[in-house]
Amino acid sequence: MYRMYDIITKKKHGEPLTEGEIRFFVEGYTNGTIPHEQASALCMAICFRGMTMEETAILTDAMASSGDRVDLSAFGDLSVDKHSTGGVGDKTTLILAPLVASLGGKVAKMSGRGLGHTGGTVDKLESIPGYRTSLSPEEFFEISNRVGVCVVGQSGVLAPADKKLYALRDVTATVDCMPLIASSIMSKKLAGGAKSIVLDVKCGSGAFMKTPEAAAELADAMVQVGQACGRNVRALITNMDVPLGTHIGNALEVKEAVSVLRGEQQDDLYRVCIALASNMLSLCMGWSVEEAEEKCIEAIRDGRAYAKFLEWIAAQGGDTAVLEDLSLLPVSPVCYALTSKEEGYLAHMETDGIGTAACLLGAGRAKKEDVIDPAAGIVLCAKVGDYVKAGQTLAYLHTRDKALLPAAERAFLASLTYSSAKPAELPLIFTR
Ligand code: URA
Repeated sequence: MYRMYDIITKKKHGEPLTEGEIRFFVEGYTNGTIPHEQASALCMAICFRGMTMEETAILTDAMASSGDRVDLSAFGDLSVDKHSTGGVGDKTTLILAPLVASLGGKVAKMSGRGLGHTGGTVDKLESIPGYRTSLSPEEFFEISNRVGVCVVGQSGVLAPADKKLYALRDVTATVDCMPLIASSIMSKKLAGGAKSIVLDVKCGSGAFMKTPEAAAELADAMVQVGQACGRNVRALITNMDVPLGTHIGNALEVKEAVSVLRGEQQDDLYRVCIALASNMLSLCMGWSVEEAEEKCIEAIRDGRAYAKFLEWIAAQGGDTAVLEDLSLLPVSPVCYALTSKEEGYLAHMETDGIGTAACLLGAGRAKKEDVIDPAAGIVLCAKVGDYVKAGQTLAYLHTRDKALLPAAERAFLASLTYSSAKPAELPLIFTR
């Protein structure tokens, strides 16, 4: 019989916990027999003393096993998932899920909603009229099998231990702890059931991890944990020091995703999607990354990826007429041209500030209960490295209410830094 007091003491002294102790903690905290104060003391001790990779893998597996686990074993090696650590303008799932499915992968995926400056795939998909993000397990499996792609919201019973623990960490200053972050993210991915997982670890001012070093540390921990739990895992560290693409906000991001899928746009967003999709395909199809990359480029060029996108959206009840004619997507009554007050190179965009500006326009939530406006958001006309003149349009702000403009404009402008010299270009993909 374990005692939580002894487990906390052990970790306080920097000793590794046994499998039995970790599982006792996760089970007890989930079912309510271990109180919040003891769980928070253990989390704080872990923050100070850390965890070995073995402890982290056991914690991850225990949290993944605390609720339902999606069984995708019928897809063999073909099931593949992607996880992004979040950012601004990150609509990669909308593009790479059908792209990978068009080339044979099975993307049966659970995605989240946006909170704060970070957007969420489920909100983006719900801006397509009729699209259903809540399906029965049977429907989820049937669509994944028939179409090759299905994306739904996270079910309440997926890794409930993580849900409870994350809420506790959020109010006890124990979120920013590498083993706790890695186990939290990977527990949900393991419960999601895919054999192969590609992690898109974002790095920069719009990301959870601000530096390439911190992002690499998290990526390393997650890859090792995933592999220890029997999955094929690979991580890419990608730039979130500037919003991805030009559109931020739910329907606006659907619009941009369609443009990439139709082969009309080959910018940073396109390149990140090709990199992530080719790594997903390399893992699930056994191709080299270079071979997979060529196939991805071809599937966009010849229309297969876009055709798969339409098939997927229709399978989940979405109205594909709005995708064929994008003017039918939700539109804001107010579209304001925000102009530059200065002249010079755009040297830096504090990307979380740009995300906050989109949120203030109605595109995101400050609190979980907030209702989002699917049409609201920002379309960027200039990005880091561009030379702009005073009076030049920097962005269009879309909103339902003119009164929301001043605060959003202030947040947007406060996020910008100008310079007289052209800033050095950061890589789009730091490492794999
Ligand atoms: N996202 C998660 O899901 N968990 C963490 O601990 C941090 C970010």
